[in-house]
Amino acid sequence: MTQKDKEQGAAKKDKGVLYLGIDLGTSRTSVCASNGVRETISSYVGYPKDMVARKLLKKDVLFGQEALEKRLSLDLYRPLGDGVIKHDETDAKASAANMRAAQDLIREIIARAQPRSDELIYAVIGAPAQASIHNKKAILDAARAGVDSAMLCSEPFSVAYGLDWLEDVLVIDIGAGTTDLCRMHGTMPEESDQLTNFFAGDHVDKTLFDLMKKSCPGASFTIEMVKAIKEKNADVSEEMAKIIAMLPVNGKPTPFDVTSDVRTACRSIVKPMVEGLGELVASFHPEFQEKLKNRVLLAGGGSLIKNLDRAIEDEMRERLGGGRVVKIEEPLYGGANGALKIAHDMPEEYWEKLK
Ligand SMILES: Nc1ncnc2c1ncn2[C@@H]1O[C@H](COP(=O)(O)OP(=O)(O)OP(=O)(O)O)[C@@H](O)[C@H]1O
Ligand SMILES: [Mg+2]
Repeated sequence: MTQKDKEQGAAKKDKGVLYLGIDLGTSRTSVCASNGVRETISSYVGYPKDMVARKLLKKDVLFGQEALEKRLSLDLYRPLGDGVIKHDETDAKASAANMRAAQDLIREIIARAQPRSDELIYAVIGAPAQASIHNKKAILDAARAGVDSAMLCSEPFSVAYGLDWLEDVLVIDIGAGTTDLCRMHGTMPEESDQLTNFFAGDHVDKTLFDLMKKSCPGASFTIEMVKAIKEKNADVSEEMAKIIAMLPVNGKPTPFDVTSDVRTACRSIVKPMVEGLGELVASFHPEFQEKLKNRVLLAGGGSLIKNLDRAIEDEMRERLGGGRVVKIEEPLYGGANGALKIAHDMPEEYWEKLK
């Protein structure tokens, strides 16, 4: 133990610690805190475009839904994209702006957990699996301003940890930008236990948008409207209820049947998901492969698609000869809850001291 660790240990006893589990997502960032607070904001960060906007909004930075509503007066960022903090080698300015937005987002989610000024903050940050592998430093740097000690873990791992499902489980976390698959076998997962694909919520939205462009002639609509239709009705079963979308044609709301479009778009993520599942099963210890197939856990916002568990089981039966899938009960807080549990359990040496 270094001198710094000892000092920190002593400070921890004196001051008390607020533990935070943070789920840093492309579309939504949530926190569960040891003081009982639970909060979630959509992952938008906006800065007033000019003096007029600044005067109108009376703030230097806006977050979540409020930022989205005022977006015409703001430079708007969604700092995580495709599972990592957005970074463009050829555009240093844009990369720096995304980094700043990520920092502000983390600072805001910590503030929403209402820490007392004298508390030390220990945060476990669950990020998309790819970000936790490739963006570790960037995320820890983003957290530095608001956190005394931090630990990064991949989101599917925190989801499984929260449920105490640590052995022979396959977690599928269906987010906005990415679907992360993670194999758990009683230890910390390694890179070879994780797979990521881009067939997630945003892909469903894009597919549905393209299908509706064909099947709703003359209608005008945006990707946000399509996403709202999806979130209200998402289903993959043949027997799903009919979905009628009211869309403007030359300014007049007009009904369109989008049932089969919604089903097709939602189904588009099933095959690639089961392909990934198959890879993680096939490369696992042969004696435990059956067990793994029979403990597949669906998490993330995308797991709210109705009957998705059954559709994945059907596809698994065809490709892998069988399998059982269950859905997590709290998709919104599964990641943050698990991260908080990790925070409570982790011994001092696992923490990265940021201050
Ligand atoms: N009821 C619903 N039915 C279908 N999809 C939904 C529903 N509610 C939310 N979603 C979708 O879930 C996705 C967001 O999931 P989640 O909040 O877990 O993502 P995230 O953690 O922010 O993203 P990522 O893990 O990619 O960083 C979005 O694409 C959203 O449209
Ligand atoms: Mg997520």
